[in-house]
Amino acid sequence: MDYSHVLRSSFFDITAVADTPEEIARHARYIEDGLLFIGGGHILALMSWEEGQHHLRHMADWLDYRGRIIVPGFVDTHLHYPQTGTIGAYGEQLLAWLTAYTFPAESEYACPEHAAQMSDFFLSQLLCNGTTTAMVFGTVHPQSVDALFTAAERLSMRLIAGKVMMDQNAPEDLIESAEQSARDTRALIRRWHNRGRLGYAITPRFAPTSSPRLLEAVRALRAEFPDTWLQTHLSENAEEIAWVKSLWPEHDTYLDVYHHYGLTGERSVFAHAIHLHDSEWDCLRRTRSAVAFCPTSNLFLGSGLFPLRTSWQKRVKVGIGTDVGAGTTFNMLRTLGEAYKICQLQSYSLCASEALYHATLGGARALCLDDRIGNFMPGKEADFAVLDPAATPLQALRISRCRDIYERLFALITLGDDRSIHQTWIDGRCAWDRSRKEAAA
Ligand code: GUN
Ligand code: ZN
Repeated sequence: MDYSHVLRSSFFDITAVADTPEEIARHARYIEDGLLFIGGGHILALMSWEEGQHHLRHMADWLDYRGRIIVPGFVDTHLHYPQTGTIGAYGEQLLAWLTAYTFPAESEYACPEHAAQMSDFFLSQLLCNGTTTAMVFGTVHPQSVDALFTAAERLSMRLIAGKVMMDQNAPEDLIESAEQSARDTRALIRRWHNRGRLGYAITPRFAPTSSPRLLEAVRALRAEFPDTWLQTHLSENAEEIAWVKSLWPEHDTYLDVYHHYGLTGERSVFAHAIHLHDSEWDCLRRTRSAVAFCPTSNLFLGSGLFPLRTSWQKRVKVGIGTDVGAGTTFNMLRTLGEAYKICQLQSYSLCASEALYHATLGGARALCLDDRIGNFMPGKEADFAVLDPAATPLQALRISRCRDIYERLFALITLGDDRSIHQTWIDGRCAWDRSRKEAAA
């Protein structure tokens, strides 16, 4: 085997996409003592130590990660890099929060130097939290997205992003004409889409900041570039939903506005989707659209409880989003811990393997990237996180009392944070190492 690195550790992944939680349980794979062979930025093989040792060129040819748990890199299906600096802003729900905190922060991204500085900071936050793929909002300024893609390209990171499109109901300096918005978006798609591991998402912010003309322009862009993604927000907050109804009275539902303009589809990701009617779930299913469940954001802004059980019943694809900066952490373990509590409030027990599925292969599937990332099957891209299950004395105590991998993973989800991320590997290389950072500090 023509490998560049071999890692010896415990490994956990879900080997195939699932249409029910029971299928996740069937496809969960745990190898207590395994060898991961990687080469050319891809997974070559994952085997037990017993079997894998016979494929080593030399007996000492492996890196020792025993005591860690290696999982596929986390997939964050929804967040806003320009909101990094305003995370945890006090006191408001969605619409007032946008006006008080978000729009002023986004105005600063007219400055390319600020955008470049914040892009580096943002990507380092993803890496130190084990996130290797993300679908990201920029601001209306094309330079915000140029800066982010430039920084992601340096890291060989798989990243999908787009410039926000807005032509009404936002501050003067953040709105543009539908035509200008389409022109700028088209130029960015030509510059960045499918360049290395980068992808472009057409990004109308949400229905209230979009005129019919803007949504027509989005429809035309989707027809012109059918393999791009689309990201927007849907049914997050009661006041927002009432506003959409008043702006678009001829449409029966919020989603119907998007569907009417052809925004639903295989590569479309709708953030939140908390308060949907049955017909909206059915439309998401029919159009193979995906939703991003954003637990910490939904709690922080008091938006509501995402009905995960319904999403299974309706067979709609779901990924997890941190939704920074309405979300309060970049860390996927903490995000899953909050997802568990949201489910508890609806009498649904989110087990560790389901939670990790949503944050890895399920998220990859929501982004139509499950043929490339999300687990350790041969040929997948070598993006993964090395977890330290006992990063603190409390975690070490709790782990010592766990009987199996599911209890250990659940303890990580409940107690873990950025300290639990020992290393993050991107494209077959270690891109972030906590011990090196700590030694340098
Ligand atoms: N809806 C429209 N814009 C936003 C945003 O920036 N964050 C959240 N959480 N919801 C939105
Ligand atoms: Zn958002």
